[in-house]
Amino acid sequence: MVLLCPFFTAKIKLNCIRIVYFIMITEKQIIAALSTVQEPDLKKDLITLNMIEEIKIEGLHISFKVLLTTPACPLKEKIELDCKEAIHRLVSPDLVISIEMEARVLSARLDKLVLPGVKNIIAVISGKGGVGKSTMAANLALALHQLGASVGLLDADIYGPSVPLMFGVHEAPDMKQVDGKNIMLPVERHGIKLMSIGFMIRPEQAVVWRGPMVSSALRQFVNETDWGNLDYLIMDMPPGTGDIHLTMGQIIPVSGVVLVTTPQDVAVADAIKGAAMFDLLPNRIPLIGVIENMSWFTPAELPNHKYLIFGEGGGQKIADMFKTKLLGKVPLVASVREGGDKGMPAVLDDENPSKSIFIGVAQQVAQQMAIHSASAQNSQAI
Ligand SMILES: Nc1ncnc2c1ncn2[C@@H]1O[C@H](COP(=O)(O)OP(=O)(O)OP(=O)(O)O)[C@@H](O)[C@H]1O
Ligand SMILES: [Mg+2]
Repeated sequence: MVLLCPFFTAKIKLNCIRIVYFIMITEKQIIAALSTVQEPDLKKDLITLNMIEEIKIEGLHISFKVLLTTPACPLKEKIELDCKEAIHRLVSPDLVISIEMEARVLSARLDKLVLPGVKNIIAVISGKGGVGKSTMAANLALALHQLGASVGLLDADIYGPSVPLMFGVHEAPDMKQVDGKNIMLPVERHGIKLMSIGFMIRPEQAVVWRGPMVSSALRQFVNETDWGNLDYLIMDMPPGTGDIHLTMGQIIPVSGVVLVTTPQDVAVADAIKGAAMFDLLPNRIPLIGVIENMSWFTPAELPNHKYLIFGEGGGQKIADMFKTKLLGKVPLVASVREGGDKGMPAVLDDENPSKSIFIGVAQQVAQQMAIHSASAQNSQAI
C-alpha cells in the first residue's frame, strides 16, 4: 500500500505522459512487508526473530540490516531476494532497496563459567581412527573464518596431535599473568586461534601419560588459555570413546558434535559407538550432523572419474539412524593430504577443487548449529 503525499517523487511513464506521483513510505509498511519473509531454517518471520535493524527511508531509497544467525549462512542470497521481493510486492515496485547482511552468531549457552566469550563449541569426533577428523576440523575452522566468523581450533588429541603439522606451527604459545596465574595465549595462524599439546613438545616426543595427566592438560587448554571472544571453537578429538571424551563431557560445555566417518561398514560401526557415547554423557550433547569423508577417489588426471574405494552410503546411514543431517561428502583427493602435510589445509588454496566442498560443509555445520541453538533458546524460554 502506497501513501500519496507531496514530499517524495516517483516518476512513472503512462501512455507517454509523464505523471509525477508523490510517495511517502513509512517504516510501518516496511516492517509489515518484512514480517511476511520467513527465515527458511527457523521457520519464523524476520521481524519476530529480531533480524531486522536500522531501517532508513530516504525518498524512494530504503535501507536496512539483516542480522543473520551465522556469517556462514548458506541462505544469505535467498533471504536478501525474499526481502526485496516482499517490499516490492507489498509496498511499491519503484523502491530502491539496499540490504546490509550482518551476522549475530546464535549461542544457546547459559553457563559462562568456562570459556565465557565463546558462543559455540563444536567437537569433531569419530569412532574409528584415521577417518579424517583432523583434516575436517582444520578445514572446517578455516572455512568458517573465511565466511566471516571468529574461530579457534583446540587440538584435543593429546596423544596424537595433528594441528602443529597441519598449520606448520612448532612454537610454544606465549604466556601472560592474570591475577598471579599463568595463562596461555593461543597461537594465531591464517586468521584462527590454535592450541595443541604439540606446541609444547618436540615433534618426535611421545606423550606417555596416564588418563589423569591427559585430562589435566585438556583442562589447561580450556581453563588456563585466553581464547577471548569466538563465534566457534572447533575441537579436534582423538578417535574412540576414552578419557579425553569423558573429561570433555564433564568440563567443557560442548554445544554440538560433528561425526566424521568414511562410507565403509567398519568405520560406520565405530562411528555409531562414538555417537552413542554422547547420549550417555551427563549433559547430553546434540549430534548436529555427519560428514562422510573419502566418499570417492578422484585422480588429478581424471577429474570426472569417481572411484568408490570405501563403498558408499555409510554417512547417510548414520545420519538416518541418529535422525540428523548428512552435512556433506568429501572426496579422497591427493591435494587434501598434501595441503595438510605442508601446513596449508586445502581450503586456503583457491585453486584446490575441494575448497568449495569444505566451504559447503562449513555452511551446513553453521546452519545446523544455528538451528540447534535457536531451538535450545526456545526451550530455555519455555
Ligand atoms: N579427503 C581426504 N583426501 C585425501 N587425504 C585425506 C582426506 N582426509 C584425510 N586425509 C588424509 O588421511 C590421513 C588421516 O586423516 P586425519 O589425520 O585427518 O584423520 P583422523 O581421523 O584425525 O586420524 P586420528 O584418528 O589418528 O586422529 C591423513 O594423512 C590425511 O591427510
Ligand atoms: Mg586426528
